[in-house]
Amino acid sequence: MKQQLLKRFEEVFGDVNGAKVYFAPGRVNLIGEHTDYNGGHVFPCALTIGTYAVARLREDDKLCLYSMNFEASGVGESKLSDIEEKVQGDWRNYPKGMVWAFGVKGYQVTKGMDILFFGNIPNGSGLSSSASIEVLTGYILKDLFGFAVSNQDIALIGQFSENNYNGVNCGIMDQFAIAMGKKDSAIFLDTADLSYEYAPIALAGAKIVILNTNKKRGLGDSKYNERRSECEMALSELQKKIDIKTLGDLTEEEFEANKDAIADANRVKRAKHAVYENRRTIKAVEALKNNDLTLFGKLMVASHDSLRDDYEVTGIELDTLVEEALKQPGVIGARMTGAGFGGCAVSIVKEEAVEAFIKNVGDAYLAKIGYAADFYVVEIGDGPTVL
Ligand code: GLA
Repeated sequence: MKQQLLKRFEEVFGDVNGAKVYFAPGRVNLIGEHTDYNGGHVFPCALTIGTYAVARLREDDKLCLYSMNFEASGVGESKLSDIEEKVQGDWRNYPKGMVWAFGVKGYQVTKGMDILFFGNIPNGSGLSSSASIEVLTGYILKDLFGFAVSNQDIALIGQFSENNYNGVNCGIMDQFAIAMGKKDSAIFLDTADLSYEYAPIALAGAKIVILNTNKKRGLGDSKYNERRSECEMALSELQKKIDIKTLGDLTEEEFEANKDAIADANRVKRAKHAVYENRRTIKAVEALKNNDLTLFGKLMVASHDSLRDDYEVTGIELDTLVEEALKQPGVIGARMTGAGFGGCAVSIVKEEAVEAFIKNVGDAYLAKIGYAADFYVVEIGDGPTVL
């Protein structure tokens, strides 16, 4: 891989003098969905698939960005002084957003760079290809300019750039999972204060299988922001009655006793999901610690049901995948993962059943939806590195 990337870099940029090769993973969230902007817990892990880059400094102030995934769009050149200029829909807004965000946070990028990217996270799959590019770029900036930032800082700057440069009001989960990833462990993160612990994922002969709806996400980002403001409104209604900082402060019982403070039925459902999903995530990590994979799987299914019925972010494609997955022998649990509205589901399946699982769910999905799903048997990997 490294040699191939360097070869392509040489073809595009003329030579490989001073160039280094980097990698940052993608992520999948096992449970704790739409809780990260509600002060709740999440439980994601980094994957061994992700984004590669070859990068070096330039002597001028030009940022020259090329992606092997979008070869037709060639090398995009922008000046550091014009970093605020975005091109609608261009993948370069992610690395450019990081250069901009580093500057805002006091880490001034003073030289241009040549960077070639290559990602093997399927585009639009909801496995955080954009957060992967952001964290990777942050890691490159740290390495090439010697900035004193930790991986956690890179995650926070990544979220800042996503929120303020790219206009998606996301929480911290994706960038944190990628920047802080650890092989064979998921990250139990409390988004209220960023305290976290690594939980080893020993699946005793089972595999993590990701199911991609292949549905192109269109309105996803605006719906995402809409859900977020519904939760914020529900929180401020609850705060008139009880003293809480986030929805994550509430137990299920406290929510039920106070939900009449929320004036709108949809907002009650959104807040209910945020509260119950947070509690489910805490219970799921507990179950894993007790080696109770069956309970972990049941909580995954309850998470999906809540995302379908109360949060309303699934849709026919994700529901079909999960429904068909749950019919299969050897399945321990399945749920949508990430923002929803398309993208992927995640399942845990006994190793000996994986082949039939993929065939059966794939056939049923194709018959019902009219196009094929994709399946990836994934491994949990480390955070960003120099290769
Ligand atoms: C997207 C966002 C995350 C998180 C998930 C839903 O992936 O980027 O911050 O909110 O959706 O859990």
